[in-house]
Amino acid sequence: MLVSATEMMNKARDGHYAVGQFNINNLEWTKSILLTAQELQSPVILGVSEGAGKYMCGYTTIVGMVKGMINELGITVPVALHLDHGSYEGAKKCIEAGFSSIMFDGSHYPIDENIAKTKELVELAHSKGISVEAEVGAIGGEEDGVIGKGECADPKECKMIADLGVDILAAGIGNIHGVYPANWEGLSFETLAAVKEAVGDMPLVLHGGTGIPDDQITKAISLGVAKINVNTECQLVFAEATRKYIEAGKDQQGKGFDPRKLLAPGAEAIKAKVKEKMELFGSVGKA
Ligand code: 13P
Repeated sequence: MLVSATEMMNKARDGHYAVGQFNINNLEWTKSILLTAQELQSPVILGVSEGAGKYMCGYTTIVGMVKGMINELGITVPVALHLDHGSYEGAKKCIEAGFSSIMFDGSHYPIDENIAKTKELVELAHSKGISVEAEVGAIGGEEDGVIGKGECADPKECKMIADLGVDILAAGIGNIHGVYPANWEGLSFETLAAVKEAVGDMPLVLHGGTGIPDDQITKAISLGVAKINVNTECQLVFAEATRKYIEAGKDQQGKGFDPRKLLAPGAEAIKAKVKEKMELFGSVGKA
C-alpha cells in the first residue's frame, strides 16, 4: 500500500523504533526492498534523490514502477514513496507525479526563506494527503554532488520549522552522508536531546545512516528518531556482489553476461542489508 509517512512515523515514535528509508536507484533495488519489507512485515520508506529520479526516467516513471510492483508482488505493508533532499521545484513535481511523501531540503536557504517555502509546500502537500519532511542544519558529506559539512542544528530554528506543520524533521546532529571519516566525533546526543525538547512530539529523522555504530543508532531511536536513511551501505554491498559475479566469469558461452543474472547477486545483497537494518531499527513485525 502506498501511504504517506505520517502514520508510520507517529507509530514508530510512540513504539520507540525507527522506519528505514532505503534509497532506490533502479528496479532491482526497489524490488529487493519491497520484498524484504513484506517478508519481515515492516513498514518502509523508499527514498528517491533528484539525481536518482532523473536516472530512473522521471518521477512519473517511478510512481508507475512502485505502484506496479506493490500490485504485482502483493505488497500489503505500508510503503511511502518519498522524495529525498528535494528542491522547491522537485518537491512540486513529486506532489504532481503521485509521490506519497516529500522532503523539502531548504537548509541552505536563509531561515526566513526556508520558512516561507516550507510553509507553501506543506499546504500544497497536505491538501493531497502527502507528508512533508523538512531539514534544519545541513547534513554533511556528499549527496548527489552537493557537499556539506556535518552541522548541529539550532533547536530554536527546529522549533520554528516544526511549527509550520511539517510531519517529520531532519535535524543535523553531526551526521554526514556517505562513509564517516576516521576522525568523526560521533553523533551529538546533546543536540538531539535539545532538538527533541524544543519540538516535542515531532518524529525526527537521522540522515547518513551508513556507518553509524549500532549503539549510537539505538540511542538515537531512544531519543526520538523515528526514521533512518540508508543509501551508501546498499550501494557498497550491491557493487561488491556484482564485482564478485563478474570476476567469477559466469558469462553465457561467449554471449556476455545475462543482465538478469548479472544483477541478481546485488539484489540479494540488498535484501540482506535491508533485513539487517530493519532488525536493528526495530521495525520488524510493525506493519
Ligand atoms: P548514507 O548514504 O550515508 O547512508 O545516507 C543516506 C541518506 O541520508 C539519504 O538522505
